[in-house]
Amino acid sequence: MYQDKMILESLKKVEAARAENVKLNPRRMSAEEKEQLLAAYHPDYRQDQFSVLQIGANQGEKVPTELAALLQGKSRLADCKVNLENPDYDVDVLVIGGGGAGASAAIEADNGGAKVMVVTKLRMGDANTMMAEGGIQAADKENDSPAQHFLDAYGGGHFAAQKDLLYKLVTEAPEAIQWLSSLGVEFDKAPDGTMITTHGGGTSRKRMHAAKDYSGAEIMRTLRDEVLNRGIPVVDYTAAIELLKDEKGNCAGAVLMNMENGELYIARAKTVILATGGAGRLHYQGFPTSNHYGATADGLVLGYRAGARLLYADTLQYHPTGAAFPAQIFGALVTEKVRSLGAMLINANGEAFMNPLETRDVSAASIIRECSDRNNGVQTPQGKAVWLDTPMIEIKGGAGTIEKRIPAMMRMFGKYGIDIRKEPILVYPTLHYQNGGLKITADGQSDLENLFVAGEAVGGIHGRNRLMGNSLLDIIVFGRNAGRNAAEKAKQVTVGALNLDHVAEFEEKRRAAGISDDTVSPKLLPNYTRLRERRE
Ligand code: FUM
Repeated sequence: MYQDKMILESLKKVEAARAENVKLNPRRMSAEEKEQLLAAYHPDYRQDQFSVLQIGANQGEKVPTELAALLQGKSRLADCKVNLENPDYDVDVLVIGGGGAGASAAIEADNGGAKVMVVTKLRMGDANTMMAEGGIQAADKENDSPAQHFLDAYGGGHFAAQKDLLYKLVTEAPEAIQWLSSLGVEFDKAPDGTMITTHGGGTSRKRMHAAKDYSGAEIMRTLRDEVLNRGIPVVDYTAAIELLKDEKGNCAGAVLMNMENGELYIARAKTVILATGGAGRLHYQGFPTSNHYGATADGLVLGYRAGARLLYADTLQYHPTGAAFPAQIFGALVTEKVRSLGAMLINANGEAFMNPLETRDVSAASIIRECSDRNNGVQTPQGKAVWLDTPMIEIKGGAGTIEKRIPAMMRMFGKYGIDIRKEPILVYPTLHYQNGGLKITADGQSDLENLFVAGEAVGGIHGRNRLMGNSLLDIIVFGRNAGRNAAEKAKQVTVGALNLDHVAEFEEKRRAAGISDDTVSPKLLPNYTRLRERRE
C-alpha cells in the first residue's frame, strides 16, 4: 500500500501514461551507448571500491575490497594445532555445499560408484538455488539451437566467457532439462504437453523453462529428495573452514567445523568438490542482496588459500530489479520474468526510459543513471527507485496472467497490501550474482589437483555478465560434470598423510606482505549486528 505523498504523485503519472507506454517498444542501445553507460554507472567500474591483492595466485589483480579482506584474511586455524592423524570421515568424494550444484554433483558421484558425503554449513537446500525464480535456459525448441544460445550468452558476457565452458553449458542444456524432468521437476507446460518458454534479457529466442516463478525451489526440492532418497550422507550445520592437502600437495579433504558448538572434524577425501555458492551477503558497495543468508564467498577463500586461481573476481551482477519498497523486502529478487511477461521500467515522471529486456548489467546501470544524474527516481525511505509497471502484464497477456505465471511475486507484494495486478512496484538494483570465481577446466577441476568446483563458486562460464536462466543451468551441467569426474578421478587416487602446510605458508605470506588486517575467513555467516553497530 503506497501512502507517501510523493510516491502517490508519481504513481498518478505512471497510471496516466500507461495506455500510451504499453504500446511502446523502446529501442535497444547501441554497443557504444552500452559501453558508455556501464563505464559511468555500473558498480563494477567504481575503482575506489576495489583493492589489489597483495598475496596469492591472483596477486596484483583487483577484487572488491570486502572480498580482498577475506581472500587475504587470517585462517580460523592460524593459532591452533589440529590433529590430522585419525580422520572423522573418510570418503572418496567430499562435496562442500548443499545447493543445486552440490546436490547434482553428489547424485552423479553416487552414480559413478563413489562413496560420497555432502557437508553444508546450514541445511541441504539452504542456497541461492532455492531462491531462483525466473527459469533455466535450454535451446530445445525447433527455432533455436545451442549455437544461438552460445552467441547470446557470449555477447551478453562481453565476449569474455571461457569458450570451452560455455560450449559445454549450451550443448548439454537440453539434456539437463530432460534429466530434471526425469527426476520429477514440474516445468510449466502447454495443454499439449510442450514446454512453455519465454524470453529473458539478451536472449534472441524464447528458451527460458520455468516452474511459475518458483523455478529454483522446484529444482532444489527435486534434487534434495533425490540425494536423501539415495541415502547419500548429508552433514548439516557443518562448514568447511580449510582444505587439506597430502604430501604431494594435492587436495585431500577438509577441516570441518560444527556451526553450533565450534567442534572441529577432519574429513579425508580422494577428491573434493567446492559448491559453496555466491557472495551476496558480503553486500559489496553497501548494496542489498537477493542472495541466501549463507552466501559469503567461502569457497573462493578456501580455494585461494590453498593455491587455486580465481577468474574475473572483479565482476559482480547487480540484478536490475530488486524490491525497493517496502523496507521489509528491500533487495529481494523481483524476477526478470516480470519484464519477460510485459512489465516496463518507468521513471518518476511516467516515462518508459529503456527497453526492459536489455542485459542485466546494462539495465542495472540504466536504472542507477535514472536515479542519480538524471534525477528521475522516485524517493522511497530506502533511497531512489524506479517503477516496474506490472499491471501492463495483464493488459498484454490477459487477466489472470500474473496469478498463473508469477504467483510468488503476487504473494510477496500482496503481503504488504500491494496488488501487483493493479499497482506497479518500486525497484532498484540488488547484488545478485558473482560472475567470477575459481578457475576450472572443462572437466571441472581447479588449479589444485583433485579439487573440483561447481556452481556459483566457478568463474569464467559466463564471462563478465550472466544472462538470466544460465545459472540454474550451470549448477546442473557443471554440478553433474564435477560429480562424474571427481568420482572417476577418485578411483586413481591414494591419499597420503594429511597436512595444513599451505595455511601456515599463507600466514607467513600475510606477515611478509605486512597485511595487518586480521579479518578472519572464511566468513561463514554475515554479521548484521556489527553492521548496525558501525552505522550507529
Ligand atoms: O530474474 C530472475 O528470475 C533471476 C534469474 C537468474 O538469475 O538466472
